[in-house]
Amino acid sequence: MRLSNLINSLPPYHFANAKQKILDRQAAGVDVISLSMGDPDLPAPAAVVERLCAAMQSTENHRYPEYRGMRALHEAIAAWFEQRFGVQLTPEHDILPLLGSKEGLAYAATSVLNAGDIALVPDPYYPVYISGTTTPGAEPFLLPLREEQQYLPDLGNIPADVLARTRLIWLNYPNNPTAACADRAFFERVVDFARRHDIVIIHDMAYAEVYFDDFRPMSILQIPGARDVAVELHSLSKTYNMAGFRIGMLVGNPELVDAVGRLKSNIDSGIFRPIQYAAIEALQLPPSWLAERNVIYQRRRDILVEGCNALGMRAEKTRAGLYVWAHVPQGYTSRDFANWLFDQTGVFVTPGTNFGPAAKAMYAFL
Ligand SMILES: Cc1ncc(COP(=O)(O)O)c(C=O)c1O
Repeated sequence: MRLSNLINSLPPYHFANAKQKILDRQAAGVDVISLSMGDPDLPAPAAVVERLCAAMQSTENHRYPEYRGMRALHEAIAAWFEQRFGVQLTPEHDILPLLGSKEGLAYAATSVLNAGDIALVPDPYYPVYISGTTTPGAEPFLLPLREEQQYLPDLGNIPADVLARTRLIWLNYPNNPTAACADRAFFERVVDFARRHDIVIIHDMAYAEVYFDDFRPMSILQIPGARDVAVELHSLSKTYNMAGFRIGMLVGNPELVDAVGRLKSNIDSGIFRPIQYAAIEALQLPPSWLAERNVIYQRRRDILVEGCNALGMRAEKTRAGLYVWAHVPQGYTSRDFANWLFDQTGVFVTPGTNFGPAAKAMYAFL
């Protein structure tokens, strides 16, 4: 069959291949420990599962859901956002529930970019920032994230001809894969940059609620004026161990939120209502639920970071996020090392180069 140029240009999705590799190895009897993908092994909260089951009993919920999500979910997201970040969102205009944040990334970019435009993509990157850029025919321009610059992109060195065609910048803090976090000063700089150059910011905050000690990652929407230029994506996948439920949200600039809603209603038919009820339950959990869950990740982080450093594989204790970005031993590429580790031990990690050409470290999920 003759397929479209778009499909022919899309690479296979790394994590889909990785999942198959793990299944094949498990079928061969290997006890695989997968540290390769941010897919929480801890269960979703019991109250969430109960609410889901209860909502399933109502036949009203078996019908098509609302295209843009239930009003009660919009309100629960607004209340959660205000409590967590001190930012007031208008439930009907600033919020769009999603079938997981991944689709929102792609649709937000499609809603902004035209063929020939440029999107600034920090490198290393979550792969969807590239496919989200190229699907509407735009080009990625990579901004290297360097350790010595705390993995923040340098906005001062972008060539003028690139800047003239730039319509979008992708950001992701806490970062996958480096686990770096951005501070207020950086977000202020990037909002100012976006306003001056008429650029849209898509801030992916999938790891907002995995943090350690007293650190709390901030939302870009806490910066005055950010809502004029930015949208932010949140996800219940990592926040409440609900990756399989497929629910997240786009918040921020109302024009872009509305555009994504319009695009989605032409493609999908909304989120199964029992899952929306489950999400409402999750968003209303007390902060102690998150605190207890994050202690588990913190313990895992300590074991992993201390172990990597003891082996000479330099890794930092992270303040947030689900990943440890460890330097591979001398003489290995990250891909060779990941393959060697899997063959020898059944421990599956993702090579840094899966996140772009600049990345040399491997990464492991907590
Ligand atoms: C950086 C980042 N953004 C977004 C997602 C997508 O999350 P979901 O679609 O489950 O909300 C992931 C998943 O691993 C991720 O790592």
